[in-house]
Amino acid sequence: MAKAELLREDGIGILRIDNPPVNAISPELVADLDRSLTEFEEDAGLKALVIECAGRTFVAGGDIAAFEDPQFSAAPYNRVLARIEACDRPVVASLFGTVLGGGLELAMASHFRIAASATRLGLPEITLGLIPGSLGTQRLPRLVGLEIARDMISKGKPLSAFGALAAGLVDMLDDEPGRAARSKAVELAVQGMAPRRTRALTPPDIDNADAVLAGARRAAKAKPWLPALSAVADCLEAAARKSFPDGEAVEKRAFHDLIGTTQSRAMRHLFFAERAAQKIPGLDRETKPRPVEKVGILGVGTMGGGIAMTFANAGFQVTLVETSSEALVRGQALIADAYKATQSRGLMSEEAVMARLGAMNGSTEMSDLADCDIVVEAVFEDMELKLSVARQLGEICKPGAIIATNTSTLNVNRIAAATGRPGDVLGTHFFSPANIMKLLEIVRGADTEPDALATVMLLARKIRKTAVVSGVCYGFIGNRMAEVYMRESEAMQVEGATPAQIDGIIENPKYLGMAMGPSRMLDMAGVDVGARTVIEWIKGGDGPQDPAYRAMCRNLYESGQHGQKTGHGYYRYEGRNPVPSEETAELGRHLAREQGINRRDNIPDEEIFERLLFAMANEAAFILEEGIACRPGDVDIVWTAGYGFPAWRGGPVFMADEIGLEKIVARLDYYAATLGNEHGYWTVSPLLRRLAEKGERLSDWRREA
Ligand code: COA
Ligand code: NAD
Repeated sequence: MAKAELLREDGIGILRIDNPPVNAISPELVADLDRSLTEFEEDAGLKALVIECAGRTFVAGGDIAAFEDPQFSAAPYNRVLARIEACDRPVVASLFGTVLGGGLELAMASHFRIAASATRLGLPEITLGLIPGSLGTQRLPRLVGLEIARDMISKGKPLSAFGALAAGLVDMLDDEPGRAARSKAVELAVQGMAPRRTRALTPPDIDNADAVLAGARRAAKAKPWLPALSAVADCLEAAARKSFPDGEAVEKRAFHDLIGTTQSRAMRHLFFAERAAQKIPGLDRETKPRPVEKVGILGVGTMGGGIAMTFANAGFQVTLVETSSEALVRGQALIADAYKATQSRGLMSEEAVMARLGAMNGSTEMSDLADCDIVVEAVFEDMELKLSVARQLGEICKPGAIIATNTSTLNVNRIAAATGRPGDVLGTHFFSPANIMKLLEIVRGADTEPDALATVMLLARKIRKTAVVSGVCYGFIGNRMAEVYMRESEAMQVEGATPAQIDGIIENPKYLGMAMGPSRMLDMAGVDVGARTVIEWIKGGDGPQDPAYRAMCRNLYESGQHGQKTGHGYYRYEGRNPVPSEETAELGRHLAREQGINRRDNIPDEEIFERLLFAMANEAAFILEEGIACRPGDVDIVWTAGYGFPAWRGGPVFMADEIGLEKIVARLDYYAATLGNEHGYWTVSPLLRRLAEKGERLSDWRREA
């Protein structure tokens, strides 16, 4: 079936695009557009042309999958756009849904744009490490000015239809854009005015070009690891100072250079990984989610409060249950304060805040959870307590209600068994602050019913979280890998490195570029929180039986140095500012003496990087082999959405593949030989070794069906 065709209606041509799911531009679609345009050009009886789309949205972009083809070229599509713009009869675009990338470029090549009021319009290519490749960098500034174009292209954030109208990107709003476009097309044809071609316009703020371009250069300089930003500056400069064809040449060269960069490949990998993560083995389209309207939260502390806000923000009714009225009031006050802060920053109206608080009921009776469709428990991380509340929830919750635990490390199967209805149970591991962080690890227990899992996957979409399913193990995907990362960071502090040195390497984009290194992260999350779980893990018999294991963290905890909140942890805090701590350094020296470790003055930067990243990649391979993660991309989504791993690195698995598994395995073997492997810390995953020997990538590995 043709992906685009020319229809004739009352003397005008309708160029109708139909390429599900999102009408993305593919080579076949371009060929059909080309043919349809020829038909239009040859039919002099048609007074005007309307461009519209079938399905759920106007064109939402170029087909990102096509970028992987080394022969990919934007030229054929750009020629189609040039022909549309050059039409001597009026061309009106009818816009709705998400008009993104190549879709907006198509709209901008048309002569008149009408959008439904819920439309979003943008050039998100920067989120894929790219710039627009079909003259978006040249047409957008001519329509909305250099400054708005700079911000839209370099941030990738779409405009609302109203914003687009105000900026001059669309000409008119109408909630029946197809009908409005037809009558506008006729009106323009009758008026007989010359078509308004975007390429012929001058950016309305051309007098301010120097300042806008300087801003674009500064942004590029601040993030040299994102070459797309300097390409944005080059293209805008061309739009301001050169002819349209010269600007076209600048954009073409820049786009071509960017498409092969590691950064863009990494970000494209994440785009598809995020979508692949929604496909769960054992769940098919027939699995019907259970209805959810009322949500219960048990335990309104740091996490429970944030989780409650997340659900209220998405329009759910929420019942909060605490042990005492004091605890309830404390929890409710935390929620109210968080909303007030959002309101005072102008990010939410007073009415919206009131509506959300109004959607929450508080209680100290667990029986008030009886009518909830899902209950998320976020009580203290203590197995005995978790088992006890699980038993009660199993009895109180109505049949079919889902019981979710927010545990970050504990065995979900044991908690599920305690409810007496394990089919209804799973883990919902939110990240702190729960109302802000994107990631939601959904932990599938051994007995979790497929429809319970499907329900929570759908809920994750509704509450706008990026969901990844994990199997049951200590720490699931994310914290299990974080454990080896912390282990090496702390071991090196005993061997002679400082927290600042290690964090510096991990935060340095030359090595990795994490938002926060391991010690700063733990100081922020709370050394006590981290230490208590490690202590429990070891005590329970599953953790490493190694007195040196994470001894820094455990000692800091025991001496009351719990991080930022106590003013001292791995660092000393002057306000929120971390400064090196002599006490922590002394603790490192003390532990070295105690453990008989020879300290080294200058642990090489390269070693710090390798011991953290390579150990994580190795753990990822174990996690995949054991079936804890469904696929390699899931690991990358967990780390980029939940732990501040830079998207332009593609996640730990993608980054390891870029470095080369052969090198990684060789270095893991080297550390086993030089540091010792008594506790198996450097045992190489058989999967990783096999792939390294075959010269394959872990990202490409798939579990046998
Ligand atoms: N190229 C190829 N496939 C695309 C695509 C694109 N530009 N945009 C979406 N898809 C696919 C997705 O992979 C998904 O496929 P699947 O069902 O096989 O997993 C399907 O379309 C639906 O996308 P999804 O993101 O799940 O739907 P949504 O309704 O939540 O969001 C969009 C729709 C268009 C807003 C979102 O997909 C998006 O932002 N796409 C990228 C837009 C973009 O960057 N365009 C510029 C490209 S240069
Ligand atoms: P918290 O100490 O801030 O809050 C726990 C709350 O549970 C307290 O308000 C307490 O009064 C309440 N509570 C205890 N027993 C209860 C009971 N029987 N009935 C009702 N309420 C009860 O703890 P938190 O940091 O919010 O952690 C909660 C859970 O979330 C833990 O399982 C933790 O591992 C997990 N988690 C925490 C983080 C984090 O960064 N803090 C991140 C992810 C997951």
